[in-house]
Amino acid sequence: MMHEQLDISGLVKRFGGLTALNSVDMTVGSGELLGLIGPNGSGKTTLLNIVSGYYKADGGSINFERRPVLGHAPHQLARQGIGRSFQVTKIFRRLTVLQNMLVAGLSDGAQSQSEATDRAMGLLRDLKLERLAHERASSLSGGQGKLLEFARIMMLSPKIVLLDEPFGGVHPELKRFMHDHIRKWNDSGVTIILISHDMGSIFDLCQRVVTLSYGDIICDGTPEETRNDPAVLDAYLGDHHGAA
Ligand SMILES: Nc1ncnc2c1ncn2[C@@H]1O[C@H](COP(=O)(O)OP(=O)(O)O)[C@@H](O)[C@H]1O
Ligand SMILES: [Mg+2]
Repeated sequence: MMHEQLDISGLVKRFGGLTALNSVDMTVGSGELLGLIGPNGSGKTTLLNIVSGYYKADGGSINFERRPVLGHAPHQLARQGIGRSFQVTKIFRRLTVLQNMLVAGLSDGAQSQSEATDRAMGLLRDLKLERLAHERASSLSGGQGKLLEFARIMMLSPKIVLLDEPFGGVHPELKRFMHDHIRKWNDSGVTIILISHDMGSIFDLCQRVVTLSYGDIICDGTPEETRNDPAVLDAYLGDHHGAA
């Protein structure tokens, strides 16, 4: 059965006078595929940044598999099984595709060079990037860059993957391919939190959707419940930044 894998309690984050997260409580079960939505500036990226160790919190607690998250660096949390992607892809353009994979895989010393290379080539094959393994990452298209980031996340065999707007600027065919991979990871037991403005993707992929507005959770329910929730409709209609 599902157990509580990620437990966020009373999480507060401020930037100067702005409260980006206002005492957020949220638990995520092992094996869930959870959508995280909300208008621009509602705190989605901030939440993922704290869970993955990139930002400090101003209050509250987070446990991942019953171990505290706050106070740990991103590389330590990655080693504990928290993987993430960024809204803007962070690939090393001067390195080859394979080298980009190895940078991720060797950082904790858990895998030998040959094990890491085998694993990297397998993941590149899955994502149809194998023939580009020895090309510089700068030669990849935007979509291929997204796929490289997907492949790279899996190098450390994460237990949970945090995806921040993975479909931004991605054409429909590639999006379907990414959907298939997200489902495949989830089917193999990886928990996923997916941030997206693409409601089609969210409602298609997720069993549960959490909606943030100005740093508060205003809805936590099924896609159906979310779609019909007056507070969610209100938050989006009141959004002047044009999030759809
Ligand atoms: N590093 C930062 N410094 C100052 N303000 C920030 C920073 N990161 C985010 N914010 C602010 O926090 C709020 C939430 O931002 P963010 O989490 O990026 O929202 P979302 O991802 O939902 O669009 C916004 O008002 C944003 O301007
Ligand atoms: Mg964001």
